[in-house]
Amino acid sequence: MTKQLTEENFIPITNTRYRPNYHVAPTNGWMNDPNGFVYFQGYYHIFYQHYPYAAQWGPMHWGHKRSRDLIHWEGLPIALTPGDSEDTGGVFSGSAIVKDGRLWLVYTGHHYYGDNDPEHFWQNQNLAYSDDGIHFTKYANNPIISQAPDDSSHHFRDPKIWEHNGFYYIILGNQSNNGLGRAILYQSADLFEWQYLGVLDQSQSIAAEGDMWECPDFFTLNGKEILLMSPMNIQPQAYQFKNLYQTGYFIGQFDYTTQKFERNHFQELDHGHDFYASQTLLSPDGRRIVIGWADMWESKFNEKSDGWTGLLTLPRQLILNDDHLTMQPVAETSSLRQEILCQGPLSPTTMLSQHNSAIEIKATLATSNVSLYVKDVLNNDIISLYFDKDTHTFVLNHIDHPNDPRYAFVNELDQLDFNIFVDHSVIEIFVQQGEAVFTERFYIAGTPAISLVSDANSTISGQFTTYRLD
Ligand code: FRU
Repeated sequence: MTKQLTEENFIPITNTRYRPNYHVAPTNGWMNDPNGFVYFQGYYHIFYQHYPYAAQWGPMHWGHKRSRDLIHWEGLPIALTPGDSEDTGGVFSGSAIVKDGRLWLVYTGHHYYGDNDPEHFWQNQNLAYSDDGIHFTKYANNPIISQAPDDSSHHFRDPKIWEHNGFYYIILGNQSNNGLGRAILYQSADLFEWQYLGVLDQSQSIAAEGDMWECPDFFTLNGKEILLMSPMNIQPQAYQFKNLYQTGYFIGQFDYTTQKFERNHFQELDHGHDFYASQTLLSPDGRRIVIGWADMWESKFNEKSDGWTGLLTLPRQLILNDDHLTMQPVAETSSLRQEILCQGPLSPTTMLSQHNSAIEIKATLATSNVSLYVKDVLNNDIISLYFDKDTHTFVLNHIDHPNDPRYAFVNELDQLDFNIFVDHSVIEIFVQQGEAVFTERFYIAGTPAISLVSDANSTISGQFTTYRLD
């Protein structure tokens, strides 16, 4: 007998050892990309790629949570369920927009040809709407974009929508029929009728810029346009592009009249092992805020055996500094601080935190060669982050990724600055005011011991504070 796909059959959580306190994780089951990140009627909404019946990827739904402050999230019923004629095989990633007081979701319908080949599929673009931000109705005349342009492969997904000068635009992740990743652009006056404008930007080669650009996002920051996306199959280099797939950006100038985007080279957004498929929103007070999946395809996901998989990063404010994007935890994160666990001057070996799994650490020190260690109760190095002051390089090692370090090169400064968020099975390390960020999942029994240790022949001077977070 086939199992009924109803709420009673949602997979239960069987162990909470890796569950985060303040990061968005699925109520149960599987999560990947953040979707539909939007502000609507006094709440921030986040949706996510979700499969509630098992802690693994399956026919995609849109899970849903909302928050007044980007930090404390309330779980809501699943917003979109697959299986209608426009999304027979899954409701894939997409975005949201508010128009005339109504919340609109735009998403990819995924369809298999039914020959048991998971790579044999087609995709289209669809709408759903809600007036209360909780219950969603699929638009009666879906799809709104029924097929990919003639010169493209079957990869045609992840619409990001925005409004500019009275028109609506959608950018889509796509692949040309000669195998290059690209972002394509559509325009509409009303959200329902869409006109194809052409290729906004395309990979210069598979090795350098990828063969499929997943989850594109496009926005203006400080008068420049940013194309943020997740290209697949970039060739790894010695110090960068070392994840299975990357997330990063081009900075450029876009002309809405000619639809020309002049841009620079591809830069990675986060330097950790676990970051993918990010999406941004513009907050009511004008901040550009990004949130990502704090995981990577084909990772270990130790929480899988506990009835859930995957979580999202903290929302981070994007700031454009010259030709580089920095990320800082949104200011609202300070409302998580419960009490100061310890603080004081740094010594050559300083224990920053030992007995808590949900903490924030802030440390500022005069530039020197130092290492940050995250250890388990048996004193194993789970994660270490070494800073070399001569080359201003950070090198991160992770026990689950042996001989696969991650690097970040930062500008020369006389101060070193760390802002670290730990939440049970995820750590986000912001260095130099977010000039570089490392996002890492980790799995240990008990609470992590986190210390800062200076090199044997190097001095250390600075201050730290550790907060317990809710
Ligand atoms: C990115 C992605 C998207 C797709 C979704 C499916 O991680 O592959 O391109 O829409 O996940 O879950």
